[in-house]
Amino acid sequence: MDSITVIPGDGIGPEVVECALEVLDALDAGLSIDVLDHVHADRYRREGQALSEADLSRISASSAVLLGAVGRPDVEETGYVRDVLLRLRISFDLYANYRPVRLMHDRLSPLRDPARRMLDCAIVRENTEGLYSGIGGNLRASSPQEVAIDADVNTWHGVSRILDFAFSTARREVCLVDKANAVRAGGRLWQECWRHAAERHPGTATRHLYIDAAAMKLVTEPDRFDVIVASNSYGDILSDLAAALAGGIGVAPSASLNPQTGFGLFEPVHGSAPDIAGKGVANPFACLLTTALLIRHLGHEAEAAAIDAAVAGSIAAGRVTPDLGGSLSTRQVTQAVLASL
Ligand code: NAI
Ligand code: MG
Repeated sequence: MDSITVIPGDGIGPEVVECALEVLDALDAGLSIDVLDHVHADRYRREGQALSEADLSRISASSAVLLGAVGRPDVEETGYVRDVLLRLRISFDLYANYRPVRLMHDRLSPLRDPARRMLDCAIVRENTEGLYSGIGGNLRASSPQEVAIDADVNTWHGVSRILDFAFSTARREVCLVDKANAVRAGGRLWQECWRHAAERHPGTATRHLYIDAAAMKLVTEPDRFDVIVASNSYGDILSDLAAALAGGIGVAPSASLNPQTGFGLFEPVHGSAPDIAGKGVANPFACLLTTALLIRHLGHEAEAAAIDAAVAGSIAAGRVTPDLGGSLSTRQVTQAVLASL
């Protein structure tokens, strides 16, 4: 039996995870569930670490993690969030961040007028290197002579493996997004790895766009995209743009995967939303669509499709939380989804 470790986390994390657990229970998918509800900001404050070695070994014994969200305004940001998210990413080498974006109803799209433009693509973002690798520093800080350098780290190994993953998920095309015309060293490496990767996957069409043009085309021709592959920073930016086109972070799922080991960390794109936490209005769809990704990854295609369809059905019927223009609470939306399962 596959087992899932669940980290509800902070803010609206536990609220949306509760909904996902009820839906999983209703589907009776034969998964065993280990909830780490002690991993949160209070523990980080008390013990200086939210995720212990014992937690990591419980996680290792499972097939995947479902995480709600971590972060609280009264707890120092980078230390805590790094402690949980980066340790999971690094411990399990979750180098591929997979973020599908599908417009489930044209009512959610800012592009609905005048033409209907559907969107059904995935952003594959390199998750372990690039501009976010933390190498760099400041010289003569806080003076008019200050120099700040953040190194953009790109390795042949890291780039090749994310390109291969992108091809493995494509239905018809992979579009590489970079800025090889301006960022020369890394651009050259990505372009060369791209040529080799395309040769390894001859059955898939390829396209190349610079990041600026890609941002424009996501808005003007969203239906042309299938899989977009990009570095850590470009993938971060494009996935927020794509998520906004599909109705916002209330419906945006995400997975960080290691395709070799099969292990994955699944979490909604949104954070812990302290501004609405405890009010019972958090949109559970992002967490439900994330749960569908998780169980699809474990081979439960029928149950995953049932969750996707139940969410799409709720959206079509207008049974949604305020962020999507509705008036239902998290509980009422959960009930609607459970009823249509
Ligand atoms: P956020 O995603 O938590 O919230 C941004 C805005 O979207 C807020 O107005 C919020 O109310 C709204 N929102 C988010 N999720 C929603 C949902 N399910 N339903 C309805 N509205 C929703 O991002 P923010 O405010 O930048 O960060 C808050 C905390 O979350 C911080 O501590 C941050 O570090 C953490 N964070 C954690 C992430 C994670 O666990 N993966 C990811 C992003 C942020
Ligand atoms: Mg982001």
